[in-house]
Amino acid sequence: MMTSAPLTAPTAKPLLDWYDRHHRDLPWRVSPPMTARGIKAEPYHVWLSEVLLQQTTVPAVKPYFINFLTRWPTVRDLADAPSEDVMAAWAGLGYYARARNLKKCAEAVAREHGGVFPDTEEGLKALPGIGDYTAAAVAAIAFSRQASVMDGNIERVISRLYAISTPLPSAKPLMKQKVGVLTPADRPGDFAQAMMDLGATICTPKRPACALCPFNGSCEALSQHDPEHFPVKAAKKTKPVRYGAAFVAVTADGEVLLRRRIETGLLGGMTEVPTTGWTARVDGETSADAAPFSAGWEACGTVVHVFTHFELRLSIYRVAIASQIQTDNAWWEPVTNLVSQALPTVMKKAITAAIPLAFNHSPLAFSHSKD
Ligand code: ADE
Repeated sequence: MMTSAPLTAPTAKPLLDWYDRHHRDLPWRVSPPMTARGIKAEPYHVWLSEVLLQQTTVPAVKPYFINFLTRWPTVRDLADAPSEDVMAAWAGLGYYARARNLKKCAEAVAREHGGVFPDTEEGLKALPGIGDYTAAAVAAIAFSRQASVMDGNIERVISRLYAISTPLPSAKPLMKQKVGVLTPADRPGDFAQAMMDLGATICTPKRPACALCPFNGSCEALSQHDPEHFPVKAAKKTKPVRYGAAFVAVTADGEVLLRRRIETGLLGGMTEVPTTGWTARVDGETSADAAPFSAGWEACGTVVHVFTHFELRLSIYRVAIASQIQTDNAWWEPVTNLVSQALPTVMKKAITAAIPLAFNHSPLAFSHSKD
């Protein structure tokens, strides 16, 4: 769309009017007009959804959110849950330190705050695993605090609205300041969620629907005829590549050999099939020589998985054996139980490369992790 009329200064009003009509109905959300009547969302629901939403997309979060709430209806229930159960419920979302922090945060709220979330950004930020984003989002959405909520969608909207040419991440303080000026005192939670919905549905990265946008009379990027140019990003560094091998052994009774990863470090405490270390060295172990026992291991492809700090290329080997072979620190699990194990996505991919239908029963398997 082309605009030739002079731009008007942006205000929250047209965005909130748009949100009243076009907001998404989401299971953790209290929607207008209830919010306009002062009805607020349950802090536990808001916190849980925001932590999950940092991992993956809105559609992928819905089944996780419902599963968590069904199993642990209150923050005290989550605090009392066995850690393995929480890790298993989180499996597939990636970045498992967040799951451990989720549990620690629930314990802190239950034991140090009587089961009631603090109602300020500062109070929330003092809890384990709550950073700037989650503190601002929970303070605004659950407690109507005039916090400046910043996420990827909001950065895109604000960078276009003001045609911010400084590249990310250096532009973040300026973006936050602009959001702070726009955030209204009376509906800060609706404003934040309206910005998120606008970014997800109208002000999209590619081909934004500017003709439908409530800000189209105020948007500097649109007046420059190039909204897609924003946000400007600093050039990306390519990720280093690491290599390893993973071994999927299956007995005639349909059991798979599994291990538990050590508590600390990447994917700490999660379940895995036996795997070598993951190394950037070209002479690292990627062959069947590194298998947990000698047998007729057969190569069945390579799985590529992108972590935050590196890309992993895992050579997968499988073997079918008549009955269990005992190996240290490992156990045999029926394939039909794999869905209830705390298997990270990379391990689900590895097992699927060897046993294509291993996770066919799970509605949560292979949700799209951002990590
Ligand atoms: N993404 C992250 N948090 C969200 C929320 N509260 N509503 C919509 N999208 C979101």
